[in-house]
Amino acid sequence: METIPSLLVQRLHAAVEDSAGLEVQVVPTADSRFGDYQSNVAMVLAKRLKLNPRVLAQQIMDRLRVADLCSGVEIAGAGFLNFRLSKEWLESRLCELRSDDHLGVPRPERSRTLVIDFSSPNVAKPMHVGHIRSTFLGDSLSRIAEYSGHRVVRDNHIGDWGTQFGMLLFGWKNLLEREALEADALSEMERLYKTVSARCKEDPAILEAARSELVKLQSGDAENLALWREMIRLSQGQFDSVYGRLGVRFDVTLGESFYNDQLRVVVEDLARQGIAQESDGAMCVFSDGKHAPEQDPFLIKDKDGWRPNPALVLKSDGAANYTTTDLATLQYRIGEWRPDEIIYVTDGRQQLHFRQLFAVFARWQPEAFQSVRLAHVWFGAILGEDGKPFKTRSGETVRLSDLLDEAEERAFSIVSAKNPELGEGERREIARIIGLGAVKYADLQPNRQGDYVFSWDKMLSFQGNTAPYLQNAYVRIRSIFRKLKESGETWKGGAPMALDQPAEEALGKKVLQFGEVVLQVLADHRPNTLANYLYELANAFHSFYEACPVLKAEAAVRPGRLELCDISQRVLKSGLELLGIEVPERM
Ligand code: ARG
Repeated sequence: METIPSLLVQRLHAAVEDSAGLEVQVVPTADSRFGDYQSNVAMVLAKRLKLNPRVLAQQIMDRLRVADLCSGVEIAGAGFLNFRLSKEWLESRLCELRSDDHLGVPRPERSRTLVIDFSSPNVAKPMHVGHIRSTFLGDSLSRIAEYSGHRVVRDNHIGDWGTQFGMLLFGWKNLLEREALEADALSEMERLYKTVSARCKEDPAILEAARSELVKLQSGDAENLALWREMIRLSQGQFDSVYGRLGVRFDVTLGESFYNDQLRVVVEDLARQGIAQESDGAMCVFSDGKHAPEQDPFLIKDKDGWRPNPALVLKSDGAANYTTTDLATLQYRIGEWRPDEIIYVTDGRQQLHFRQLFAVFARWQPEAFQSVRLAHVWFGAILGEDGKPFKTRSGETVRLSDLLDEAEERAFSIVSAKNPELGEGERREIARIIGLGAVKYADLQPNRQGDYVFSWDKMLSFQGNTAPYLQNAYVRIRSIFRKLKESGETWKGGAPMALDQPAEEALGKKVLQFGEVVLQVLADHRPNTLANYLYELANAFHSFYEACPVLKAEAAVRPGRLELCDISQRVLKSGLELLGIEVPERM
């Protein structure tokens, strides 16, 4: 099924004489009093032809053939065209949507391949609250791309290599407590790391010892390699249990170490092509002067003006780094999967890293660079209610697994208070769905580039723009059908849709926007658009439910209202699923 904006764009193209290359936009109007959709086509064209946009709008309107879709078209403001969709057409479109198992999300003309690099925690450290956003955003973007008919490679680029292993190995050999390791491997490894790194600061001999463990590992010492593998295995076990709980999966986990044997070649290649140069014993990439300073990631401005801000690809001690690894990774991914797009989901502090990475790659492999869209999907911080980075009371970083436990526990109290009659098992399951949903939604609903305040009370509230509110809208609709069934009626579905009441029409129109919203998220990587759409849908449903009785409705309108309930319920459920959020049947 094509989206409504794309149908209108086609009609507009047909109504414009010379429409080749014309970028026509059709978007929902901000205020439904002025119609349902709006286009800026006359303004775009006016600029091109240097004519008056309102005059052009009139000419386009005269030639426009939309009588089958619209009950009215008007010229507004500086030359916008406003479309009002006809009730009959909306009704027939809802019927069509009902039998579309993708609920109006169009199949792509060509299925694209997307590599999505997300979550990517570091080995030997517990996953903490900082990994939340990458994990939820990446998972949601993966679900959305797949649902839209694309091929997705979910790649967990874990940090399984680096200087921390020197200290970890030293700690493992000298300070390891077996029992603690068996009880909670990541905590024990974290303790080792913290203890050794503190001692390194005080005692140069320990620093030296840790360093030599690292050198042994890097040069392939069998014992150290085996210990390193064991640390990865233990970490992966705990990552997997968190992912399992969150319903997150990966297609591949190719950590940083996977690229080790390619790093030297990358640096040599960059040097040979003159892209990387020696500077103070290190190998660096400097500006090539081809971009304006504001756009050049290899320049930085200070009080004396622009100065070089090179990307390091080989440190003076001969070690490759994060950038080198990412260059090798990028080359590998393009060769392996021929992706149309690669999406990196990390926090905003890595913006410079990715700008430099993409720029170095563009110079190193211009053709490969042209073949792929590279996107750094970055996000802001999670803050505590005091406005500072979210921490535990004692100032530690919050462990993801503890956070999820608490979410479920809090949801359990709420569910138990609301439904004391349900058995404990059922209440636990509902609490799991609500608790995890609340945490995910609170993270996905705000614009990802801002910081947000983590608030249990807010995210678990049944009122407002929250997961429980949306889940509750779904549950309400389900209970309508349950009551129907309990009364002995069988509901077959398939009755004609009727949008006679304003609340019915408003709900029907919201339902019909699902496809365009999903496409939008795919284009700009902002799942908050989908979250907010679902909130509006739930609101439209509640208004409808208040204004229009369903089960008690007159026989003439009852089947149509049940249809509206059913399709709303399906969109809510699928939409939440695309955010990685489950729905309970009661709550
Ligand atoms: N492990 C990194 C971190 O925790 C994130 C990796 C992101 N992906 C990448 N290809 N650089 O910051």
